[in-house]
Amino acid sequence: MTGLAGSDDIGDYLVSARSLDEYRAMFALTDDDLLGRVLDCPGGASSFTAAACSRGARAVAVDPVYITRPRRLEERLTAELERGQAWAAANADRYAWDFFGDPAGHARHRADSAALFARDRRVQPERYVAAALPALPFADRSFDLVLSSHLLFTYADRLDAAFHVAALREMARVSRAGVRIYPLVDQAGRAQPRLVAHLVDRLTGAGLQAHEGPVGYGFQRGARTMLEVSV
Ligand SMILES: C[S@@+](CC[C@H](N)C(=O)[O-])C[C@H]1O[C@@H](n2cnc3c(N)ncnc32)[C@H](O)[C@@H]1O
Repeated sequence: MTGLAGSDDIGDYLVSARSLDEYRAMFALTDDDLLGRVLDCPGGASSFTAAACSRGARAVAVDPVYITRPRRLEERLTAELERGQAWAAANADRYAWDFFGDPAGHARHRADSAALFARDRRVQPERYVAAALPALPFADRSFDLVLSSHLLFTYADRLDAAFHVAALREMARVSRAGVRIYPLVDQAGRAQPRLVAHLVDRLTGAGLQAHEGPVGYGFQRGARTMLEVSV
């Protein structure tokens, strides 16, 4: 991968480990959505790909962090889980706890998910592709559905509007049916209505359809919508 080959350090993005259950809720996924070929972009340490494949989906995850060797990434994950858990416990009032119950439940859920990811990556490394938006190494329309959680909007402080447009167009290029993006708030939980409106406008101008729709999940308070792009 250009610029990253041989590197174990791909920056200071949190490599989080959400589960299939969280993905189902965040993206309002149905059983039918999981029948086809699904791309998780970025996959991070999510167990979505492992769990979806074990129930018959053909899922692939892509993330620049997969340039990192398994043992080194697993060490990083241990540290990041501790960091994320300490943050969530210390800032519990910023979050809605209906999904996890409490900070201890959140910690267990994410640790289980990270462990499933780590096992699957060692056994099925071909499911985990090292690459970075806005350039994906996949043919046009090679996935039915593309899911993108906690990169766009989350890091709006460092990824500008032009990056968001390019990333969404690239994910739409490799999808036959559509792209779903969640959440539409930044790391601090701030809504991004101007960025959402800008993206809808730019995508519509490019011949795509994009709209914001509700989801039944919202760990970050106020993060109760996703952006759906139809191709
Ligand atoms: C907060 S994690 C989200 C992981 C997963 N979707 C989840 O919800 O558990 C953000 C991920 O974005 C990845 N990332 C950073 N820059 C990226 C880029 N240009 N293209 C794709 N992924 C990127 C990071 O390596 C990190 O794993």
